[in-house]
Amino acid sequence: MERRAWIEVDIKKIIKNIEIIKNYTGTKFMACVKGNCYGMGMYKISKEIERYVDAFGVATTSEAIELRDGGIRKPVLVMGPILPGDVEVLMLNNISITLFNEEILKAIKSVIEKRNIAASVHIKVDTGLGRIGLPPEKIPAFIEKVSSVRGIQIDGIFSHFATAGWKDKTYAKEQLDKFNRTLKSIEKVNIPLKHIANSPSILNIPESYKNFDMIRIGLLLFGVYTEKYLWRKLSLQRPLKGYCRVLYIKSVPAGTFLSYGLTYRTKKKSQIATAGIGYQDGLRRGLSNNFHFLWKGHKVKIVGNICMDQTLIDVTGKSVKSGDILQIFGDNLEIEEMAEILQTTPQEILCGFGSERMEKIYKL
Ligand SMILES: Cc1ncc(COP(=O)(O)O)c(C=O)c1O
Repeated sequence: MERRAWIEVDIKKIIKNIEIIKNYTGTKFMACVKGNCYGMGMYKISKEIERYVDAFGVATTSEAIELRDGGIRKPVLVMGPILPGDVEVLMLNNISITLFNEEILKAIKSVIEKRNIAASVHIKVDTGLGRIGLPPEKIPAFIEKVSSVRGIQIDGIFSHFATAGWKDKTYAKEQLDKFNRTLKSIEKVNIPLKHIANSPSILNIPESYKNFDMIRIGLLLFGVYTEKYLWRKLSLQRPLKGYCRVLYIKSVPAGTFLSYGLTYRTKKKSQIATAGIGYQDGLRRGLSNNFHFLWKGHKVKIVGNICMDQTLIDVTGKSVKSGDILQIFGDNLEIEEMAEILQTTPQEILCGFGSERMEKIYKL
């Protein structure tokens, strides 16, 4: 079968990025591989990078179990909230739980009693993201309570930024202050892993990793950056390259409407290529008439509305043929540009390309 639309994932470049980042921060490295590693293949990537990282961060119980079932032995933290019914399977698989509420504490206690096994937890402090976690003032009493339970090991305490990549660092610094004050309030308790930094914060706020034990990195595994002024702040490799094939070429006269909704009309006689990619593959429809691919290094523009499975490209004046390869993204910060155009995050763009139909080819 001919390849239609695919992403090349260069594992060596991901490993290189991990090494560059570890050298830069000098901390332990938790690879955040949640969301199928931002769509790029959690199991495959985790297996290959396990030797180079200290821990894995996932969002859900099923992601954590998938890692363990696949033979991942390094620590795994479910960073997101869970339901009490998940506690037993997590503990049985030696997976760390993010702990901040009585309901989960109670479930942990009952599994300890029932099974006589230990639980590993990281306490979550809500310093201002307002998603999960306990407010700083409630942490000392909660930690005292948790510490009194035999069988619970507090392996970490962490928080998460709301505005880590912003140029205006006021809010992020307030969060950092709150986290530091929280740590001070419990300094007598020995907690080995204190962590708050994510991809944008290591580039934007050095204090977010200095004096901490670990960083949690997702996006930068792929050398993809958030805010424009942080682009290439650390020189990283670009492990992801997206491609699709030209499936059909036609010549159309001036004045021809192209694709649904008639948003594009040719001004002159044009050569139009139909590319085998659409929004089901992750190419966001909002990029219609607003983005380009590369054909043999030359820019070729998307014309008309992107469809579910096909996208029209103006290749006038170029000797493009059916079967030719078009590059969708690669070294030139296209993922970041797409996110900018769509007013969203690069993480969301990558997750979109995580579509099952967008084949992933791993280069080892
Ligand atoms: C709690 C937590 N930590 C770390 C990360 C990694 O974020 P990034 O992709 O910015 O590295 C995420 C991802 O959103 C997260 O939810």
